Amino acid sequence: MRARIATAIAAMAALSLAAAPAAPAAKKPSKRKAPARWEKTVRVHTAQPGAQLLVQVRAINCAKSISVQVEMDKRYVGGRRVAPGRKREIALPVAVSPGWHRVVFHTPRQKRCRLRVGLVRVKPAPPAPANAPAPGDAAYVNAPKRRVPLGAAVDSRPAVWNDNQYKDAFLRSFDALTPENVMKMEYIHPERNRYNFADADLLVDFAEANGRPVHGHTLVWHEQLPQWITSRRWSAQELSDAMRDHIDTVMGHYRGRVGEWDVVNEPFQEDGSFRPSVWHETLGPAFIEQALRFAHRADPSAKLFINDFNNEGGPKAEAMVRVVRDLKSRGVPIHGVGLQMHWGAGPPPSVADIVRSLRRYTDLGVEVQITEMDVGLNPSMRDLAEHREHQQAMFTNAALACNAVPECSRFTVWGVGDKYTWRGAETEPLLLDSGFNAKPVYHSVRGAFAPR
Ligand code: G3I
Repeated sequence: MRARIATAIAAMAALSLAAAPAAPAAKKPSKRKAPARWEKTVRVHTAQPGAQLLVQVRAINCAKSISVQVEMDKRYVGGRRVAPGRKREIALPVAVSPGWHRVVFHTPRQKRCRLRVGLVRVKPAPPAPANAPAPGDAAYVNAPKRRVPLGAAVDSRPAVWNDNQYKDAFLRSFDALTPENVMKMEYIHPERNRYNFADADLLVDFAEANGRPVHGHTLVWHEQLPQWITSRRWSAQELSDAMRDHIDTVMGHYRGRVGEWDVVNEPFQEDGSFRPSVWHETLGPAFIEQALRFAHRADPSAKLFINDFNNEGGPKAEAMVRVVRDLKSRGVPIHGVGLQMHWGAGPPPSVADIVRSLRRYTDLGVEVQITEMDVGLNPSMRDLAEHREHQQAMFTNAALACNAVPECSRFTVWGVGDKYTWRGAETEPLLLDSGFNAKPVYHSVRGAFAPR
């Protein structure tokens, strides 16, 4: 999961003060002629562009309030009046470029009146309001709106399913459904010779009755495996046969009703190597190809996806590109790449950045989907409001990017509302709140696409 929430701390750490507060005034009064002003110089350093300078100023021994002027690198950047004796914090919304800066505070001279400057620090740039496009985003933001289905993961555990508001909220707010858990091997295939379709059938029937397409999740994964798979050693042939039987039976059961599947889920580690799993350890990298071929045979009309998280860029994305390109070149049936996007609130990537992430896959001739998006807040952060704005911008930028890439065929969030989420309700990661009310972020994601 992305950890982009330490911006404020990083910006603070990036600051160093070359001159401590209350350093002696730079100019000494000349004997013949008193200077027109008192002044104090400090040097600040920041690595953060577009930040705000925060200064504490105190007027000592001044008979009346004084006006403090601030120059940075010889350029006037702001001023404030400071009452005698009072500490005053001044936030100067200047765009501080990365590097060292010379900041001069000065005030018209008053007899015995001195200026004390302290607490000079740099605050990260205020968040761009949600939806504010970054430079370079305009073409994508203004792309014609497409009717991209907005999906949600749904759970049929009784505690959730029997919550009166849950299903209504889904139907009111979403166009497509992904089973959150009940199609995973542990649930749907609990014993070698026994399948349990009841919980998944509940969801597929419900979706069908309400005209919502289903995205099957997931056939071959390293987690939520039944004991009969994990508790023994397998020969390659035996495991391959078991995988084929699983895929045949599950996809066969929903043939013609579930139009797309996460056939392989999370096959890579962050460094791009294959994730250790019973599948990889027993069958080697070929387990991906085998799973896709079995899946295509089980339902030739279904769209087949490989799904992963943190595959927007970096070594994991490179590995995904390498594998998909190789599969395509050898005619292995693969139709799409899923980007889960379990993100943390932090400075949002621009729409153009996300478009680039999607295009690295669509350039290979496959579809993409955002398959599991949620953006967790850190509830212990002081500035929760700022985090909510970042969250909204992240969701919105991802939706705008999906809209702008014609091969982005669905945008799914990982839960109906904050009340039931694997990340914990207190992190508010979804589009509806704990009472299933649409948050502003829901409307801005919807607004990225053409109306239903
Ligand atoms: O169903 C049992 C229940 O009987 C038992 O009493 C209870 C006690 O803890 O556990 C219940 O199972 C939990 C299950 O969710 C259903 O709520 C499991 O403990 C819990 O581990 C499981 O977590 C799921 C997780 O996948 C498993 O790794 C989350 O709900 C689900 O949202 C999450 O989804 C994954 C995607 O499939 C793949 N991508 C990442 C995503 C988030 O982790």
